[in-house]
Amino acid sequence: MSETLHEIRLRVNGIEHELRVPARRLLSDALRGELGMTGTHVGCEHGVCGACTILVDGEPGRSCLMLAVAAQDHEITTVEGLAEPDGTLSPVQQAFAECHGLQCGFCTPGFLTTVTAGLRRDPCPTHERARDMIAGNLCRCTGYQNIVRAVERAATIGTERAATLTTERAATVGTERNATIDTERAATISTERAAALADRGSGVSS
Ligand code: FES
Ligand code: FES
Repeated sequence: MSETLHEIRLRVNGIEHELRVPARRLLSDALRGELGMTGTHVGCEHGVCGACTILVDGEPGRSCLMLAVAAQDHEITTVEGLAEPDGTLSPVQQAFAECHGLQCGFCTPGFLTTVTAGLRRDPCPTHERARDMIAGNLCRCTGYQNIVRAVERAATIGTERAATLTTERAATVGTERNATIDTERAATISTERAAALADRGSGVSS
């Protein structure tokens, strides 16, 4: 007996996808199989290891525990969607690279998504809170030391980038305001000159 397929729309990393899947299709399998997004890894397939962690409306979720049909109307973010559109690594990705927070890399997509969400909630975690942030993800290679360092480094990079953006925005606002003042001043001078010329003209004629 053939299986009933359901037409669904999935919004992943800001892009809408239409696909036909059986009701039992796991989100992790739909992402990897139907959409070719193999950055989401599958380890235990029963919610323990965290390798399949994605963001659902910004919150971490196990894609091996969610059906694809249930993911409609939600904003899904996978590891492929963490970098900036120009390819700049996100603070968390950069920190994991800098701190060697991975070895084989199998667990890494789950850590990256988990920490991304964790730092949104807690941008400057203490050492203990950085450890707690990754408590639901398993790594068989690193011994976690460098992963915890990466969480702390990601917090620093995030703070630095936010400060740079604020400075750049302040500079832009300053430039815009100066330009507005120059324009207003030029308009005032022009009006004053026109008035003076008109006065001079009326003096000649009288
Ligand atoms: S594969 Fe989903 S938690 Fe392990
Ligand atoms: S880096 Fe190999 S399992 Fe984590």
